[in-house]
Amino acid sequence: MDFFNIKILIFLPFLFFSIGCIQTLYKFVPEHCEVKNINRSLVDMKIGKCYKLSRSELYLNISCYPLVDILNDHMGQVKITGYQFRSNEYRKGPIEFMMGMCSASLSKEFDIPNMLSNSNAKCPIRKGVNYYIYKLSPNATNMPPLIPEGRWMLQLDFLYLNRYTGFSVQWYSGVEYTNIFG
Ligand SMILES: *[C@@H]1O[C@H](CO)[C@@H](O)[C@H](O)[C@H]1NC(C)=O
Ligand SMILES: *[C@@H]1O[C@H](CO)[C@@H](O)[C@H](O)[C@H]1NC(C)=O
Ligand SMILES: *[C@@H]1O[C@H](CO)[C@@H](O)[C@H](O)[C@H]1NC(C)=O
Repeated sequence: MDFFNIKILIFLPFLFFSIGCIQTLYKFVPEHCEVKNINRSLVDMKIGKCYKLSRSELYLNISCYPLVDILNDHMGQVKITGYQFRSNEYRKGPIEFMMGMCSASLSKEFDIPNMLSNSNAKCPIRKGVNYYIYKLSPNATNMPPLIPEGRWMLQLDFLYLNRYTGFSVQWYSGVEYTNIFG
């Protein structure tokens, strides 16, 4: 399992993104998403919801006031866990990793620049300031290749001091491979 993690999570994305490819083998078929586990002593969440425009378009809007400062990667982290739907439930799969929140917001990987194009979320995050992310929607063409086909739930936990969850986003989506012979 460790080997699989390292391979998918470190090697592939770097190889893939350093050569600037886009993948067109699979697409996302978004189902729904939810904002959960809000810790009201860490964040005042004004808006945290998803809406679906069509079969292929699901967006997330967030507007919130953090109640603590997040000045660097030691203060805030994003934990990403992938769950695959197998035998009637979502089971933790090979995707699990952590990024500093500040570095993640500046990263060029995983379609992040596009996902944050309608956002003012940028470090240092100051308490009492309104931060928003509108129309957040991941684009499969900018994701790593070889994600197994099926139904997935990607959970993003926004952590404070490596310990407390400020809030979580659960994104439910299918991964469908295009039939290259069709
Ligand atoms: C919410 O965060 C605070 C830290 O500010 C922590 O003390 C508390 O245990 C957290 N609550 C939950 C339910 O995680
Ligand atoms: C999400 O934000 C966009 C851009 O501000 C807005 O047009 C849309 O109505 C919002 N949707 C919901 C459900 O709040
Ligand atoms: C997804 O990204 C590709 C390539 O960067 C782009 O051509 C396409 O329009 C994007 N799709 C959406 C829905 O933003």
